Amino acid sequence: MDSAEIRESFLKYFESKGSVRRPSSSLIPDDPSLLLTTAGMVQFKPVFLGVTDLGSTRATTCQKCVRTTDIDIIGTTGRHHSFFEMLGNFSFGDYFKSEACAWAYEYSVSVLGLDPDRLWYSIYEDDDEARAIWRDEVGVPAERIVRMGAKDNFWAAGPTGPCGPCSELYYDQGAGVGCGLDTCAPGCDCDRFLEYWNLVFMQFDRAEDGTLTPLPKQNIDTGMGLERMASILQGVTSNYETDILRGIMTKAEELTGITYGGGGRPDTSLRILTDHARAVTFMIADGILPSNEGRGYVLRRLLRRAVRHARLLGREEPVMSTLAEAVIERMGEAYPEIVEHRELIRGITDSEEQRFGATLRQGLAFLEREVAAAQEASSAVLDGRKAFALHDTYGFPVELTSEIVAEAGMTVDMDAFTAEMEAQRERGRAAVKDESWAVSGGVFSEIAAGIGGTDFVGYETDEADATVLAVVVDGVRVERAEAGSAAEVVLDTTPFYGEQGGQVGDTGTLSVAGAPVFEVAGTALPVPGLTVHVGTVADGGIAVGDTVQAAIDQPRRERIRRNHTATHVLHWALRRVLGDHVKQSGSLVAPERLRFDFTHFEALTAEQLAKVERLANTKIMEDHPVRAYETSLASAREAGVTALFGEKYGEFVRVLEVGAFSKELCGGTHVGRTTEMGLVKIVSEGGVGANLRRIEAVTSFDAYELVLAEEAVLAETAAALKSRPAEVAEKVVALQARLKTAEQAARSSAGPRFDRDHLKLVSAEGGYPLSYGRFLNDVPADVVREEADKLRGEDGAVVLASEADGRVLLLASGSPAAVAAGFDAGAVIREMAPLVGGRGGGKPAMAQGGGDDPAGIEAALEAARALLGAE
Ligand code: SER
Repeated sequence: MDSAEIRESFLKYFESKGSVRRPSSSLIPDDPSLLLTTAGMVQFKPVFLGVTDLGSTRATTCQKCVRTTDIDIIGTTGRHHSFFEMLGNFSFGDYFKSEACAWAYEYSVSVLGLDPDRLWYSIYEDDDEARAIWRDEVGVPAERIVRMGAKDNFWAAGPTGPCGPCSELYYDQGAGVGCGLDTCAPGCDCDRFLEYWNLVFMQFDRAEDGTLTPLPKQNIDTGMGLERMASILQGVTSNYETDILRGIMTKAEELTGITYGGGGRPDTSLRILTDHARAVTFMIADGILPSNEGRGYVLRRLLRRAVRHARLLGREEPVMSTLAEAVIERMGEAYPEIVEHRELIRGITDSEEQRFGATLRQGLAFLEREVAAAQEASSAVLDGRKAFALHDTYGFPVELTSEIVAEAGMTVDMDAFTAEMEAQRERGRAAVKDESWAVSGGVFSEIAAGIGGTDFVGYETDEADATVLAVVVDGVRVERAEAGSAAEVVLDTTPFYGEQGGQVGDTGTLSVAGAPVFEVAGTALPVPGLTVHVGTVADGGIAVGDTVQAAIDQPRRERIRRNHTATHVLHWALRRVLGDHVKQSGSLVAPERLRFDFTHFEALTAEQLAKVERLANTKIMEDHPVRAYETSLASAREAGVTALFGEKYGEFVRVLEVGAFSKELCGGTHVGRTTEMGLVKIVSEGGVGANLRRIEAVTSFDAYELVLAEEAVLAETAAALKSRPAEVAEKVVALQARLKTAEQAARSSAGPRFDRDHLKLVSAEGGYPLSYGRFLNDVPADVVREEADKLRGEDGAVVLASEADGRVLLLASGSPAAVAAGFDAGAVIREMAPLVGGRGGGKPAMAQGGGDDPAGIEAALEAARALLGAE
């Protein structure tokens, strides 16, 4: 049976037992307590807990899974994987142990035809019930039932949640496979006794403190490893020899020129490439992008580990996108999502491999030096700061560093590494804080504790009557503040939006009887729910207990509203144009512009940007209503609302809908209909980190002004060119061509010209003649070299500088006699290059350099003269 046939046969068998066949869920679980989908039961967790009702009590699936707990072992055995397919049958308070065991046996022996003499069964140490079922109901020999401890036979999806004792089925591959020791038995680390099916008797819910509470009903969760079953049925002793994996391995062999089966490290590397290629392909297809945290980090680790192993096999060219293609070819029929996201998978694997490929070699050299230095100092520990430098500068995941140093028998000082990481995060946090209104924290926690929070009425109104509850000056609560003083004011009710979620706070005034008493320059939310008005006290002063009219700067808020709704529309348009992997990772909504950061792996093309802008404007002009409502987090998720992963949301959330096309969790202020945004124009697009892009845009009058300004520039340019705006481009191209021809003609007729003042023949310290100077006209590199040969002569040396197309060329050259007398061209250029903003170097007889700062040429020549001790 090939893998596809096994998949189908399993699902059919359990359908015949009344199970509903359900699709595999995404590798991104809908469960904040889990990073990745690690088992078939993950999508059913709420059903086991009794929170969700599926409408059926039996299910069967083939689930794609990623696990990295065993990552160090993956590659060294034939049976461990980061990505694998798990075939499962599930009972939600329906059948229990007896049926689970009987069917597992029937399916193994009667359907698949496994030899019962090769089967073994493990049970949880005190699960006599399971033992009795196997022996008396199923009728397997008692000596084939072994008891094991919690490590092997008590199963849980994570530290908390549904769990229970389990029973496993093992297949004995024969004494010829594995360790060969007399003590070898089910549970041994070797490949002989292959655990191929785990039956979990899901009975408990584990709380954070470890206590087990019985679940409302008794459930069954089983998992059979498809790859392991394929290896049994295909008569091979390693999963890597089965149909799907063998096919991918063949591609890895082709790419590296190494044949599998020779044993040792090359085999391990090939297995790693084969295994990781599948994980990477499926993770990207499910919307995971490489990053430095969470599941993105898992993906990055796998990708980079694979790339290192490709290099270990001598392959310097990229491999991952070709391997991913081999995965798609073999698994695309069963998993159409990998076919659908083929371009994305190619783009991300290529860009990540390029990024890492560029620093891998240098990083390895750095690491080699550090390992040698540590060993010289008789230390078996790599300094955590070095591991951090490898992570920060060369992109080495620390686990990769650990793996590499382990090959030299060393470990990484993880405490020091973690401290460095924490310090970096702290710097990042501090940098972010600087952008916002900072208010002293302590005093506001106290105020919030006393008064609760501020009642925000700014969604409905721009003005409200309010009572002053607290006034703070220099971090201290006061009863009253006088005119001119900088202060912070807390009201019972406010229309001022407190800066949060990327939207800047409102500005405005607090007045008494129409006379301003406080100018609000900004707001902050130092404690959730407590709005602080930051600003300056105006005439008359302000005191606790005053009744004030709080009014925001309404036109400014209007601009903020438009920009905020525009971020939602742009987010939608970006996903439409680029794909569902696009996720918001930050934003700034200010009156004059908006900024939107999102995950994507390469720069947007001009066409993509135009498409995004056009789509967004189409939606704006269609005049959709924009509405907000509060609901529970659970029903928002059900309605498919976009939430930022990793954000903390309360139980009740605010959903912002634009027409029927965009639904996001958002607390911000928005327009009522999309046409209020007028027009959106994207001003810029750029990268702000690995796989992170940023667009900036303007809306409404700001967009109109932008268009006007650009029109004015165009009109001016057209006037200067004496042409119509539509012909400007054509005219400039023609002019450039004419200019180039003219310059070439001028150059060839004039030949290289020197600055005679500089081109001197001087006697250097070493007694050889030295010519040095600069060319006055643009001279290309080959002419500089020709001239240098002429000027240097038989026994002299020469140092020349030239400027061509705004770049500086430097050249130093010495005859054997000059070199013997101490002339060192490399040293000369290294001295000069920084002065023209560049780099360079070479050998004593010949060196070159360049830079982009022609203003430094004189200083560079002077430095050369001084270095050579010439007069
Ligand atoms: N959840 C169990 C496992 O992963 C059985 O499917 O082993």
